[in-house]
Amino acid sequence: MDIKAVILAAGKGTRMKSETTPKVLHQIMGKELLGYVLDNVKDITNEQYVIVGHHAQEVEKYLQKNYETAKTVLQSPQLGTGHAVSMVCPYLENYDGLVLILCGDTPLIKAQTLKEFIDFHKSTNSDISVMSTMFDNPTGYGRIIRTSDNQVEKIVEEKDATPEQKAVKEVNAGIYCLDWAKVKNSFSQLKSNNAQGEYYLVDIISWGRENNLNVNAYVLDDSDEIYGINSRQNLAQAAKILNHRKLDELMTSGVTIVDPDSTWISEDTTIGQDTIVYPSTYIEGKNKIGKNCKIGPMAHLRGGVEICDNIKVGNFVEVKKSKINSNTNVGHLSYIGDSELGQRVNIGAGTITANYDPISKTKSKTVLKDDVKIGSNSVLVAPVTVEQGANVGAGSVITKTIPQWALALTRAPLKVLENWVTRKLQNK
Ligand code: UD1
Ligand code: CA
Repeated sequence: MDIKAVILAAGKGTRMKSETTPKVLHQIMGKELLGYVLDNVKDITNEQYVIVGHHAQEVEKYLQKNYETAKTVLQSPQLGTGHAVSMVCPYLENYDGLVLILCGDTPLIKAQTLKEFIDFHKSTNSDISVMSTMFDNPTGYGRIIRTSDNQVEKIVEEKDATPEQKAVKEVNAGIYCLDWAKVKNSFSQLKSNNAQGEYYLVDIISWGRENNLNVNAYVLDDSDEIYGINSRQNLAQAAKILNHRKLDELMTSGVTIVDPDSTWISEDTTIGQDTIVYPSTYIEGKNKIGKNCKIGPMAHLRGGVEICDNIKVGNFVEVKKSKINSNTNVGHLSYIGDSELGQRVNIGAGTITANYDPISKTKSKTVLKDDVKIGSNSVLVAPVTVEQGANVGAGSVITKTIPQWALALTRAPLKVLENWVTRKLQNK
């Protein structure tokens, strides 16, 4: 069936108090909030419209780079969530399938839940479905108001709610499924006579009731999934929820997480069985880690990292955009960026791949072939290759290709001045 997604991402995000970053581009473990939402809908919808407005250019640039099939639609000025959705009307004039509406600031929703929501919409023959959940503390969310026979009657925003309505614990998740042909005319009829003077999308519920449409709420058990991000506090809390969800999934699949309280692993990281992740490790972005590895303590993987099996990435090691082949060790205090490491490579403590040229502002690659050994405190100035089996002496700065099985050294010869200290002390 034809399903299109509309993702609202035009709002200012006033409560984030950010001058530089629009709300939906704030990150959790290396991925933007909007990215979480798009990743969840891209496989269950055949078109995605993202409504942009505040900082539109940055959001558009982000989408072009990461989700090039998503279409952006400008909302300017931003007159509310209902007004935002109405921006797609010209694009969907003759469309008669389903439209799934989501907010760009609700990154915890799972694709599986969205699928179940769509199934609910279909199986109940609904024209309008809204997702809801129960919150002990519903403050800030729209409340689902039901009739005496438990039908969804309307949604009332916190700022417009009476004290009795505020006491309602069933809240609006901000996720809707609409039979487009039946609701497309509602948008021109929304009114802004509310506390915020905005055209509220939530009013589509009462509009549907007044127009004899079948309106239902899908009540979600796991209320965490609809946690919306409006403030920096919410951002931190959402990161915690996502992280614990991920760690739990990894432990269930046979990965040891020594200390879940101090370990951060992004949603887009996969880890093989029997790998052990030691405390205070931070893994962000997209990464693939193999089996039987030891990661950390205090390791930092920054994305684009592929680590094969039986590998050690030890304490205070940072790895970015690199592939490390099996049985290789990067034990201590190293930076490995834009690199490819072969099998059975040993990287001595304090080795740095100097991948960035600040003059040309370009990054270059370091290639270490199988069986290479790099002595401690070496600098590998990229672009550079060390061929198979070559050794680099401790403290060296390597700037050109080292042939296989050679020893490369840039160290000044060791000088020993006998009794130098004694003489200094006596001659004073
Ligand atoms: C909204 C809902 C509320 C629900 C909550 C769930 C309305 C009026 N309220 O409230 O019932 O409980 O989400 O998280 O819909 N946006 C636009 N254009 C605009 C205004 C907002 O694109 O003109 C976007 C924002 O960027 C954001 C989303 O819509 O991604 C929601 O807006 P926000 O202001 O965060 O609404 P809430 O107050 O959280
Ligand atoms: Ca919100």
